[in-house]
Amino acid sequence: MTAPSQIALVTGSSGGIGAATAERLHAAGTVVIGCDRTAPDSRPKWLADFRELDVTDEQAVHDTVTAIKAEFGTIDVLVHAAGILGNEPHLLTTPSSEFARVMAINATGAFSVLREVGLVMQAQRSGSIVAVASVAAKEARRAYVPYNASKAAVLNICWSLALELGPDNVSVNAVCPGPVNTAMWNQLATRAGGSDPDGDQRARQARAAQIPMGRFAEPEEVAATITFLTDPANRYLTGLSLDVAGGARLGMGS
Ligand SMILES: NC(=O)c1ccc[n+]([C@@H]2O[C@H](COP(=O)([O-])OP(=O)(O)OC[C@H]3O[C@@H](n4cnc5c(N)ncnc54)[C@H](O)[C@@H]3O)[C@@H](O)[C@H]2O)c1
Repeated sequence: MTAPSQIALVTGSSGGIGAATAERLHAAGTVVIGCDRTAPDSRPKWLADFRELDVTDEQAVHDTVTAIKAEFGTIDVLVHAAGILGNEPHLLTTPSSEFARVMAINATGAFSVLREVGLVMQAQRSGSIVAVASVAAKEARRAYVPYNASKAAVLNICWSLALELGPDNVSVNAVCPGPVNTAMWNQLATRAGGSDPDGDQRARQARAAQIPMGRFAEPEEVAATITFLTDPANRYLTGLSLDVAGGARLGMGS
């Protein structure tokens, strides 16, 4: 007898990492419901359903999760990939409005989505949650301070939820990518490049040179790690903050 398909909710499913993860989960036999504040031009074949959702709208998060649970019967997997980079300010020049904007989407958004789905999984006594944080959550950086702080919040939310949901057979993990070839890094490279026509390429090369593997990740590589963590056979892995970063935090050695 074949096992019933898992039901997965993927936020940020119109973006690079979210779409690649949705596609990979689908290929592994999972029924995937995508959510994003931006609807895709046409629904990709790997999405069984798509719900437009702004993760900062707490009521909409509650209503969407409730509707999916009612319609599909269970939510076995949550992948929370929705997020923004924000503008570039250093700490001393960051307006509090920018800090609040990034925290609202990346940190409070993660809190709301993980809480709502966590309640469903607690009642089911089964599930896997993976949130996309960043290596920036674990390091001091000179720029994108609100982003880094928001991703540190995502990590701590995951650790707390792993503690709370452990007794309910629910795993909660964070993946921490280094640079990934998606629209988000394109935005960063364009900004870093300034008016130099080759500036974005130079910014990419400079960042890649700081990574032992010498290159960025492809979204499919992050998707592969996320999919591994959502496999019920790996349920005993919980509370991890797993770098998917080509060794980026090792330093380059001497
Ligand atoms: N690209 C990288 O280098 C990198 C590195 C580390 C972590 N990450 C994280 O990975 C995740 C996915 O990023 P990506 O690289 O695929 O970027 P992306 O910009 O391609 O995708 C992000 C997606 O999130 C959606 N989104 C943004 N705000 C939202 C909101 N309020 N409600 C619902 N959806 C919203 C966007 O519409 C977009 O589809 C993000 O959380 C990002 O911080 C990315």
